[in-house]
Amino acid sequence: MEVRALKLTNLGPFDKLMVKLAPTDEMKSNVTVFIGNNGAGKTSILKSLATSLSWFVARLRSEKGSGSPIPEEVILNGRISAFIELSIFDERGDETSPEDENCNSLYVWGLARTVKGKKAAITSNLHEASRLAEFYKNKFTAQNNASFPLIAFYPVERVVLDVPLKIRERHNFLQLDGYDNSLNQGIDFRRFFEWFRDREDSENESGLPQDVLEKLLETLSDNQEIWSRLHTLMASSRDRQLTAVRTAIANLMPGFSNLRVRRKPRLHMSIDKDGQTLNVLQLSQGEKSLMALVGDIARRLAMMNPLLENPLHGDGIVLIDEVDMHLHPTWQRNIIERLTTTFPNCQFILTTHSPLVISDCKDVLVYSLDDGELALVPSQYGQDANAVLLNVMNTHIRNATITEKLNDLLDLIQGNQLEKAKNILATLEAELPSNNLELAKAKMLLRKQEIKHAKNH
Ligand SMILES: Nc1ncnc2c1ncn2[C@@H]1O[C@H](COP(=O)(O)OP(=O)(O)OP(=O)(O)O)[C@@H](O)[C@H]1O
Ligand SMILES: [Mg+2]
Repeated sequence: MEVRALKLTNLGPFDKLMVKLAPTDEMKSNVTVFIGNNGAGKTSILKSLATSLSWFVARLRSEKGSGSPIPEEVILNGRISAFIELSIFDERGDETSPEDENCNSLYVWGLARTVKGKKAAITSNLHEASRLAEFYKNKFTAQNNASFPLIAFYPVERVVLDVPLKIRERHNFLQLDGYDNSLNQGIDFRRFFEWFRDREDSENESGLPQDVLEKLLETLSDNQEIWSRLHTLMASSRDRQLTAVRTAIANLMPGFSNLRVRRKPRLHMSIDKDGQTLNVLQLSQGEKSLMALVGDIARRLAMMNPLLENPLHGDGIVLIDEVDMHLHPTWQRNIIERLTTTFPNCQFILTTHSPLVISDCKDVLVYSLDDGELALVPSQYGQDANAVLLNVMNTHIRNATITEKLNDLLDLIQGNQLEKAKNILATLEAELPSNNLELAKAKMLLRKQEIKHAKNH
């Protein structure tokens, strides 16, 4: 299931916006990225998608279910109604019957909101959201535990590691609970924790506890046969859904492994980082943010795809606002690649302010937003960060005052005003690090000019 197109009318900064999302005819990738200045409308696009998709989720839960309304404050100032039109493509595969007049795999629905007290200029039409929900319900009725598509929105306010302090009574986690809060809050760490603990308990009940197995392995290091049998036992007693979450975290966060719930000295979740065991609350903001995001996507996929051998291969739509948030440049660089290899069947719709996010991935559809207008950005694969900043993000690659002084310096050297040039050079040398490349180039040019000048006289 994937979003093919979104149309916005009189919403946020847009009076009219039409955007096609990857995969398109030209771009077979699963990733669309929006860039643009503060206030360009990136979050407005993601929120509109989430609002519109919430109606499909609501209709999965109940026939006449209501999703989130468009908030009145996002209706473009001075206009009467805002409208979001969503086109979803969902392949029915083998279940498609040519005689069925409803077998069209494109589902288009529209959500409207009118200013209070005004007469509606346009009204919602959510019939197709119901038709899509109906399709999944039929599938679920025909086959117990059939998969549902993940739909999740991770807003910028996503990183709150809310760890419960007490073990309450057990929850019953149903498949559809994978949608709980997935479009209004994104990461539900409390629920993640409870789910993880619940599954870990059953994992431990059905086999030898992990700690015991690990201790046994340590003491049996030279008995190969017992060693390999214990390893097999360990693998088979592992819960498939928990394995999915642990694998996703290991893939996205190299050096991190073995996420688990511990009860002593008090209830907490711990993880191993380069061989050291840490409480997850001790992790850095960036580490917490990525772990919670990846863990949440993996948990929801695992809940929704109980029949899949690898639940990370489940189908879904994931919206992440400011995907580079809190990440070190090295992680920004490969975040898209890691997400798409870990969750290969999810469509990702992302926003970013980082040139590194869009210059390290070949297959990604990038749009730039400016003043309510959308422009397709040519591939930035392999470009250096400065080129992306300069050409695509319309930003100086260095401090504007220093750039001006460097330009003046070069002009003076070219104009043979060498004494003045030396003065500016001296001030710049005092301000900039000694290995500054532009300064080194200017010094060489100055030296050449001095030699030329000496020869001429
Ligand atoms: N009802 C409205 N009428 C007119 N303009 C609006 C309305 N609501 C929001 N806006 C405009 O839309 C912008 C908000 O856009 P949005 O939050 O989507 O930006 P963004 O690209 O996500 O920015 P940032 O990078 O700072 O997160 C605001 O700057 C505001 O100018
Ligand atoms: Mg934003």
